[in-house]
Amino acid sequence: MGGPVRVAVIIGSTREGRAGEDVARWFLALARGRDGMDVDVVDLAAFDLPARYECEVTPGVAAFTARVDRADAFVIVTPEYNHSFPAPLKQAIDYAYDEWQAKPVGFVAYGHGSEGLYAIEHLRTICTELHMVPVRGRVNLDLLGGGTGGDGPARAAEAMLDQLTWWALATREARAVRPYVS
Ligand SMILES: Cc1cc2nc3c(=O)[nH]c(=O)nc-3n(C[C@H](O)[C@H](O)[C@H](O)COP(=O)(O)O)c2cc1C
Repeated sequence: MGGPVRVAVIIGSTREGRAGEDVARWFLALARGRDGMDVDVVDLAAFDLPARYECEVTPGVAAFTARVDRADAFVIVTPEYNHSFPAPLKQAIDYAYDEWQAKPVGFVAYGHGSEGLYAIEHLRTICTELHMVPVRGRVNLDLLGGGTGGDGPARAAEAMLDQLTWWALATREARAVRPYVS
């Protein structure tokens, strides 16, 4: 299986008036400027994901898990709320399982002061539990400081995407040869 690496960019804030849209726009411009990358924007605010688990798979949950399934890799764009990431993002992550497995994930996090560092560390633990491969590179933005400005954030994003691409190709080839054993 070849073709461009399919990267789902998950916008993790569903808050009214969220800064996440501007952060995602900045990151998407970088990702779309790269060769060999097919970018799918998975905006959690656009999905009808029930707050409580229902017995049946709802159309909203099915639509979300289908987008996760078709991706080779993920980038989660997340704010930091109280030293973690937002609850709706956790709920969305929990709605899929097999669809996440044996695929790499990178993070773009932002906040006030702590730059989303805690949010990323919590996400790394959860993504590992779901058999994803968190890449080492990450983007941290202080919205009260430089935000996405200057060279640093763009350089960090490109490095993270280089690592994500390597792992996406490696895991895609491996999954094609043998099923992942979870
Ligand atoms: C409930 C809440 C808790 C927050 N906690 C933190 C925090 O622990 N660390 C931090 O750096 N920023 C924190 N912030 C600031 C947010 O990261 C900042 O407002 C950001 O813009 C939120 O993302 P959003 O606008 O895309 O939802 C918090 C904001 C909210 C609303």
